[in-house]
Amino acid sequence: MSLDTLFQPFALKSLRLKNRLVMAPMTRSFSPGGVPGADVARYYQRRAEGEVGLILTEGTVIDRPASSNDPAVPRIHGAAALEGWRRAVQAVHGAGGRIAPQIWHMGAIGPHASGWVAPAPQEGPSGLRAPGEPVGVAMSEADIEATIAAFARAAADAKAAGFDAIELHGAHGYLIDQFFWSGTNTRADRWGGATIAERSRFAVAVVRAVRQAVGEDFVIILRLSQWKQQDFSARLAASPAEMEAWLGPLAEAGVDIFHCSQRRFWEAEFDGSDLNFAGWAKKLTGRATITVGSVGLSGEFIAAFGGETSSPASLDELLRRYERGEFDLVAVGRALLGDADWVRKVRDGRRDELRGFSRAALAELV
Ligand SMILES: Cc1cc2nc3c(=O)[nH]c(=O)nc-3n(C[C@H](O)[C@H](O)[C@H](O)COP(=O)(O)O)c2cc1C
Repeated sequence: MSLDTLFQPFALKSLRLKNRLVMAPMTRSFSPGGVPGADVARYYQRRAEGEVGLILTEGTVIDRPASSNDPAVPRIHGAAALEGWRRAVQAVHGAGGRIAPQIWHMGAIGPHASGWVAPAPQEGPSGLRAPGEPVGVAMSEADIEATIAAFARAAADAKAAGFDAIELHGAHGYLIDQFFWSGTNTRADRWGGATIAERSRFAVAVVRAVRQAVGEDFVIILRLSQWKQQDFSARLAASPAEMEAWLGPLAEAGVDIFHCSQRRFWEAEFDGSDLNFAGWAKKLTGRATITVGSVGLSGEFIAAFGGETSSPASLDELLRRYERGEFDLVAVGRALLGDADWVRKVRDGRRDELRGFSRAALAELV
């Protein structure tokens, strides 16, 4: 199959991409004190030189006392961190690339392996990491309002730093997802409720505030997942109707692109159709979507953390789905973490030069 279609440009609002390939957001923890340095800028610049269409940065945390459990995760607040990001953006633009930060609050997720402790207790809708597992405090109304404002400030600061778009991290069991999930949101006020539409109100408020902060023409991407790191089998939407109730208000609030996180992009979302999550999100909302999950590799990423190695895999099934219009963009994680030239090699048909992935690659920022 020809890969040429993946190398068609993409345009939405003020965002212009040279191709459909996106670097997936990947936490690297190489930003001491939360400040991304010259090595981080170089790392993203190398992916721009390697012809990645859009780089999504690693998760970068908002201005809340316990938005992070790891001091080496970059921040998107404070003069030093914002200056570090401005330089990374310049480096990427200088190489002809486009870049968006992934804006993150970890929520009530538990301690990091480093043992570092944030200056305030972790916070979430109900202080739960998973059903019956309290690790932090339930957010007050004032905490919620301040957090929404901090997301909006981060987006405005990202735009001012020169980023081309922003992505909100609403997936994988972190703060925004903790509001979505009934397992971690047991609130009885307007931020909770029995339905996914009710539990989406926090995310809707965040998206609205971000839209207000960045204006109409700036692209807002929202990353979502059915699965949680706390429970791979968790599902927020058990049917297309529930998915519509979940995504419709988010699209209405201002999401331009849904980034639909799966561990394996080829897995069907609902019985009776082989459409994946990105395919359903596009069909139900009419918005552009990004697919992700084991593109170009034989194994998935959670197993990779456990030490499983992956080898290069065919892109035929990805192309089949892309060509029938299932999604607009394709995010690639580990293959690009391990090889800054992955996109260029794919474009030029240098298949014998593609590498597998092993977790040893995580030790270095190259
Ligand atoms: C080292 C590493 C760090 C990651 N950090 C993040 C993150 O900060 N935010 C996020 O949304 N996903 C994160 N992910 C998930 C990736 O964005 C991606 O969804 C996942 O790796 C599947 O894509 P792949 O199979 O191409 O690697 C991370 C994955 C890896 C391997």
